Amino acid sequence: MSTHFQSLQADLQAHPHTWLVTGCAGFIGSNLLEALLKLNQTVVGLDNFSTGYQHNLDEVQSQVSADQWSRFRFIEGDIRDLETCRGATEGVQHVLHQAALGSVPRSLKDPLTTNAVNVGGQLNMLVAARDAQVQSFVYAASSSTYGDHPGLPKVEDHIGKPLSPYAVTKFVNELYADVFARAYGFQAVGLRYFNVFGRRQDPDGAYAAVIPKWVSAMIRDQEVIINGDGETSRDFCYIDNVVQANLLASMAQGEGVNQVYNVAFNARTSLNQLFAYLRDILGRNGVAYGRDPRYGDFRAGDVRHSQADVSKARTLLGYEPQFDILGGLEIAMPWYIQFLR
Ligand SMILES: NC(=O)c1ccc[n+]([C@@H]2O[C@H](COP(=O)([O-])OP(=O)(O)OC[C@H]3O[C@@H](n4cnc5c(N)ncnc54)[C@H](O)[C@@H]3O)[C@@H](O)[C@H]2O)c1
Repeated sequence: MSTHFQSLQADLQAHPHTWLVTGCAGFIGSNLLEALLKLNQTVVGLDNFSTGYQHNLDEVQSQVSADQWSRFRFIEGDIRDLETCRGATEGVQHVLHQAALGSVPRSLKDPLTTNAVNVGGQLNMLVAARDAQVQSFVYAASSSTYGDHPGLPKVEDHIGKPLSPYAVTKFVNELYADVFARAYGFQAVGLRYFNVFGRRQDPDGAYAAVIPKWVSAMIRDQEVIINGDGETSRDFCYIDNVVQANLLASMAQGEGVNQVYNVAFNARTSLNQLFAYLRDILGRNGVAYGRDPRYGDFRAGDVRHSQADVSKARTLLGYEPQFDILGGLEIAMPWYIQFLR
């Protein structure tokens, strides 16, 4: 039986659309770019390479045909500049707005830049997309918006107070999207991603996410540090589930738009379990890691437990996540081993 997503992919291939992916040189953006080009879509990409890389774009190029790559136009530019956003949205049907400064610790260190990019940049994108009369606008929201709300699993309508400047910016993104619907009739869809992982997620730097950070430490036979007691848990979401959610959200109609959706798998994995999974899968891929982890302090601004209820996305978008954490890690691991060795 064909899923909603499979029929959407067939429709897109039969009738290609024009897309803008902001943050296309980053982890999620480059995966969206690759998926769209493989469906023969026309794509404009916007990025300023602040946390993204030319090598991500090069890798996408290596994964698609020359003909598909010729349908991609890259703009190096900053979403903090309204005219750049206007230029990028010109003639575009669908916007997938991913550009932002991620990371809770980065935002604690430099709240001004995180705010300028995540809030000012998204507002520019909303104004540009509204004026360009795009058909759809999907933006990256975040599970950090649940803040200190203790409920599990997380349901879209029940949020707490933000625990970091980053979480504030991602909540403000939702508020602006909602106000654009009320004030201008501009319909957007927010996707609250929960700890996404997969190929091209940056393993290096102070603000690396836990999976690529630990995988790179293990491959390089370095110490793995677990923040806190290791019982902190997350709903780790493989990138291909996120790609699916973005494409489905761009085609949402009626009740499906002007909404915010959890995008995750709906499972919970503790950091201790994650460590064991990574060691096991690496071992099966020929990388033996013999060290025990070291336990450090809890990290400021971190939510203790996170797990998403994804029934809203299932019901209104037809979202059917295909990969659980283990399935995603099995696919991602050979990529990391090749990339990091
Ligand atoms: N990765 C996750 O687990 C996760 C979870 C929740 C939300 N998100 C959100 O998803 C989006 C993508 O995250 P990612 O993990 O791919 O991060 P990433 O850092 O790999 O990608 C972000 C991209 O945006 C670009 N960018 C940053 N500032 C810019 C600016 N001013 N102008 C133009 N481009 C700019 C960067 O250069 C980078 O290529 C972000 O909005 C992030 O907040 C990610």
